[in-house]
Amino acid sequence: MTIKQLYVAGAGLMGAGIAQTATAAGYDVTLREVDETLVNRGVENIKKRLDNLVAKNKLDADRRDAALARLHPTTSLEAAGRADFVIEAITENFEAKRELFKRLDTICRPETILASNTSSIPITRMAAVTGRPDRFVGMHFFNPVPVMPLVELTRGRDTSEETMATTLELSTSLGKTPITSLDYPGFIVNRMLVPFLNEAITALGQGLGTREDIDQGAKLGLHHPMGPLELADFVGLDTHLYICNVLYEGLHDPKFAPPPLLQQLVDAGHFGRKSGRGFYRYGRDGSRIPD
Ligand code: 3HC
Repeated sequence: MTIKQLYVAGAGLMGAGIAQTATAAGYDVTLREVDETLVNRGVENIKKRLDNLVAKNKLDADRRDAALARLHPTTSLEAAGRADFVIEAITENFEAKRELFKRLDTICRPETILASNTSSIPITRMAAVTGRPDRFVGMHFFNPVPVMPLVELTRGRDTSEETMATTLELSTSLGKTPITSLDYPGFIVNRMLVPFLNEAITALGQGLGTREDIDQGAKLGLHHPMGPLELADFVGLDTHLYICNVLYEGLHDPKFAPPPLLQQLVDAGHFGRKSGRGFYRYGRDGSRIPD
């Protein structure tokens, strides 16, 4: 199946990143948010990042303009009726995704593939709310999407070979390297990441080291670009907590249980970089500031 028209639902960090990547790769992209303010914010973020690439001589101004011309912001769900392929990147919440997919299933053409950027929710469970479980797939991107080379594809119980083949082809054309996982909570990457971040948070709670000691340990000793506490702030502590709970409930293994310190920070409204405070403090532009 040839994909030309993409519809991205959700213009937050992930949705805007996916839309930027897709429009730069030559696709026509409709980017949808629930209201004008949110969709405009997503588009502004994409413009800003493309301008930065032009300023660094990594992108021609003409190609930036062409990419922006292929980007169509909207608040309309009905606009998904034109899409060949839909990527959902709304908030990580099963009820919200279920409602969205039920509606998209009635709006989209029968052959359109529905993909979810979920980081943890079972693909089979979401596919089952639609009448097209064979044309439903997991497509998990990593933040920041334009920079991270991986996309993790998940085959739901009834995902067809044809859907997998089309999604693999799309992933490669977006410049990403795909890996494929069976449909178990957290798939491959978060299955590894969640215990790592949780152990760092527990170690901090026990006073094993300072936050800087723990983060430097991973950066300088393991060659990670970010330490686990910085990374948790970057992912969002509320999102990380949600993912922990999905893995804990889905795999029944205490190693995925959220550490009490994580729960406490989320209870306090400290969601990490996006709220200005998590394990560290952040300014309006997301850069680290002293406590
Ligand atoms: N959007 C787009 N581009 C961005 C960006 C963003 N938010 N942040 C940084 N970049 C770009 C910069 O423009 C720069 O591009 P250039 O090389 O063309 O100039 C490049 O990334 C490197 O940025 P910087 O020089 O400013 O900073 P760093 O070298 O410190 O890199 C980082 C920043 C790429 C974010 C790096 O710290 C990193 O790789 N961190 C780890 C990220 C990670 O692990 N992500 C996965 C999170 S888990 C996840 O997403 C799954 C979910 O389910 C939890």
